Amino acid sequence: MIMPADLEDMIRRRYRSLFLLFFMLCSLSSQVISAVSARATLRASSSTNSSVVDSDLAALVAMKAALIDYKGILQSWNTSRGSACGGGWVGVKCEAGRIIAIHLPSKGLGGQLAAEIGQLSYLRQLSVHTNAITGAIPVSISSLRNLRGLYLFHNLLTGSIPASLSPVLQALDLSNNHLSGAIPTSLSTSALLRRINLSYNNLSSTIPSTFSSLARLQALLLSHNQLVGAVPDFSQLANLQTLDLSQNLLKGSFPALQQSSAGASQTGAIVHSSATSSSKELFPSLFTLNLSHNALTGKLPSQIGELSSLLQLDLSNNKFSGAIPPQLANITELSSLDISHNNFTGSLPSSLSSLGNLTHFNCSFNSLTGKVPKLRHTFLASAFVGNKGLCGFSPASLCALPPAPSPETGAANSSGEAAAASTGEKKKKLSALSIVFVVIGIVIVLFLLMCLCSLLFICCCRRSGESMAKAGFTGEKPGQAGGGKGEGAKREGDAPGGKLVHFEGSLGFLADDLLCATAEVVGKSTYGTVYKATLEDGNQVAVKRLREGIVKSQRDFEVEVTAVGAIRHPNLLALRSYYWGPKDEKLLIFDFMQGGSLAAFVHARGPETPLTWQMRMNIAIGAAKGLVYLHEEQKMIHGNLTSSNILIDAHQNAKLSDFGLSRLMTQAANSNVIATAGALGYRAPELTKLRKATTKSDVYSFGIVLLELLTGKAPGEGPSSGPTEGTTMDLPDWVASIVKQEWTQEVFDIELMKGRAPGDEELINTLQLAMNCVTLAPLERPEMSEVLQQLEQIKPDLKQ
Ligand SMILES: *[C@@H]1O[C@H](CO)[C@@H](O)[C@H](O)[C@H]1NC(C)=O
Ligand SMILES: *[C@@H]1O[C@H](CO)[C@@H](O)[C@H](O)[C@H]1NC(C)=O
Ligand SMILES: *[C@@H]1O[C@H](CO)[C@@H](O)[C@H](O)[C@H]1NC(C)=O
Ligand SMILES: *[C@@H]1O[C@H](CO)[C@@H](O)[C@H](O)[C@H]1NC(C)=O
Ligand SMILES: *[C@@H]1O[C@H](CO)[C@@H](O)[C@H](O)[C@H]1NC(C)=O
Repeated sequence: MIMPADLEDMIRRRYRSLFLLFFMLCSLSSQVISAVSARATLRASSSTNSSVVDSDLAALVAMKAALIDYKGILQSWNTSRGSACGGGWVGVKCEAGRIIAIHLPSKGLGGQLAAEIGQLSYLRQLSVHTNAITGAIPVSISSLRNLRGLYLFHNLLTGSIPASLSPVLQALDLSNNHLSGAIPTSLSTSALLRRINLSYNNLSSTIPSTFSSLARLQALLLSHNQLVGAVPDFSQLANLQTLDLSQNLLKGSFPALQQSSAGASQTGAIVHSSATSSSKELFPSLFTLNLSHNALTGKLPSQIGELSSLLQLDLSNNKFSGAIPPQLANITELSSLDISHNNFTGSLPSSLSSLGNLTHFNCSFNSLTGKVPKLRHTFLASAFVGNKGLCGFSPASLCALPPAPSPETGAANSSGEAAAASTGEKKKKLSALSIVFVVIGIVIVLFLLMCLCSLLFICCCRRSGESMAKAGFTGEKPGQAGGGKGEGAKREGDAPGGKLVHFEGSLGFLADDLLCATAEVVGKSTYGTVYKATLEDGNQVAVKRLREGIVKSQRDFEVEVTAVGAIRHPNLLALRSYYWGPKDEKLLIFDFMQGGSLAAFVHARGPETPLTWQMRMNIAIGAAKGLVYLHEEQKMIHGNLTSSNILIDAHQNAKLSDFGLSRLMTQAANSNVIATAGALGYRAPELTKLRKATTKSDVYSFGIVLLELLTGKAPGEGPSSGPTEGTTMDLPDWVASIVKQEWTQEVFDIELMKGRAPGDEELINTLQLAMNCVTLAPLERPEMSEVLQQLEQIKPDLKQ
């Protein structure tokens, strides 16, 4: 795989001509300068004739006065240290007594540029970049008629750009300042300009269309401004190599790609331009085109394929729509293509697979559909995500059954025919023949696949059928398993019997994989039974089979489950897929958590497994983070937080499960859950009356979990030891009663007290926080964010 370094190299090669030219120019002028200044020095020593003309000297003195010289760099600008042109003055170059260059980059200069600069009428280069110069660019700079390079970038300049600049200006870099106002259209009178960098300012005009007359322009960099309007037609700029208009407010369509000489024929535009392209190339030198982060709309023209020298194309974060033209693949050297965050539709053209240098590609967040073609390099799934209909780019995004060949090949045909029309009829015949072959091929492959599938299916179901039936995973009694399976297999074979939908990060199994998986019951919750299922490839998933009759209608369910499936947070158990079976079985598929539930971990852990204070606090903080995210980012109430719903991953981090599930259920089912949670001792007391969970009732439940972690006792279970042994009591009540009797130490889990001084502040403070969470009055309970903050204060070393 080619790394960014290669890309850089490629660009460098492309840039070489530009660099070489600049280098030659610079070295030439510096040779002239050094030769001249050497001569000047010689002359100064022999005669007094060499002194700088008075007006230039006065200008330099004024310039020094206006600048703030924090580092004392300009101390050498002092008449008692020899003449300005004698070679003693830092950064000053002269020729025949005239200042021709001022070169003071990165000298820690503040202050302003004096208007007297305008008197240096022989000045060819002004370079004071990378300082902290404030104020406006003096308008008098316009009168420097010999200026070739103006480098003021990386300063704090404000105000606007002078209306016109030297007619012989070749490089203008004012980037990284605070310039505002318009880009003057009259800049185009500097007809020799090769490079314009105005990026990272606050310029707010349109891009002057007059720039299209800058025939020598090689780089136009206007990114990170507030530029508005449309992108002018720059197709005249035969020398343009880099065009960066990103991060502006540009509107309108993709820049015009028609030769203005191509005439007015609006109708056969495609045919017309492909005819002209043979005679004259469009943008023959353009290798970087960045239009990202604007508001450009419309389709990409098929002529984009004629930008044949392009290496980097970034169209991301716009509003482009329509299909991606297959002609894009005519840009054979393209190495970076980003079209993410647009509204492109249709499929990715299969022609993209011919782009051998494409090492960076991103089409995420569009409306693309179909199967991703085989690309030369592999890309992370994040390069494709956010397209509802796109599949085949990762193991998690397998395409459903045969990748719907009919519409795709149909589209390919029509575009193929359009191309064939211009080239001749020979191709047409060929493609007709090949279509016949392809169709025959598809039929045969399909037939073979079907045979293979049914064979595999029978095998796999026979092997795991018994365990499946035992687990009740498919909802059938063991006795019926055989008959039921046969029926199911048929359905899966002919038509999709059920609907399996994957969300981000899913393992991308097929429905058969799931239904044939070995499964064992790992828990039962209010919404249904939870299984651990081991897929064919050895991966494990947690499957929650929802109880019958508690779920909303299929349509409402799908809306809600899609919203829940989009929630991602390190402390929330991600919903990866769901399955709605032909007999209305509803399965939710989650990541399988190796550590089981917190309830099992705290209460049913073997003696050899330690549960240290560190681990308990880490779990508490993780769970709190998950809840804060739900409350504040998702505006969602958990409503059913118990230690059974807090799962522990392989690294002992907490992940909340069951959040958002109430949205999938009917009202009646949810009331039922609240009642059950109450029975388990996690229900806030106000819920008996209100029946509506709130963030504060979540805080109550969290407080109970915190008490569980501190005491090692399960709520509702009743204390098994201690002063009130034998009675059953609410966990908070029990804790309160002990604290009241000043036996506070008795509250804590014995394991926690090992090697710990009585009255340990961390334990006491956490206990106090837990008791605040379970106060009877909801309004007196803290918000989850405050709870999290306090936990992090108690154990700051755990803060990640
Ligand atoms: C010029 O230099 C002399 C001696 O180096 C110094 O005394 C004088 O203050 C300087 N003048 C200015 C304007 O910096
Ligand atoms: C243009 O200016 C920006 C900001 O100063 C800088 O990062 C970029 O390298 C410049 N580009 C060129 C080609 O000079
Ligand atoms: C940019 O200019 C606009 C007015 O055109 C002004 O409101 C805004 O504050 C400026 N932003 C910065 C960062 O200077
Ligand atoms: C994307 O395009 C589709 C159809 O052209 C349109 O319905 C949808 O509103 C567009 N979405 C955005 C975000 O522009
Ligand atoms: C693709 O773009 C998206 C959105 O800008 C970004 O989050 C993701 O990391 C990118 N992926 C790759 C592989 O560049």
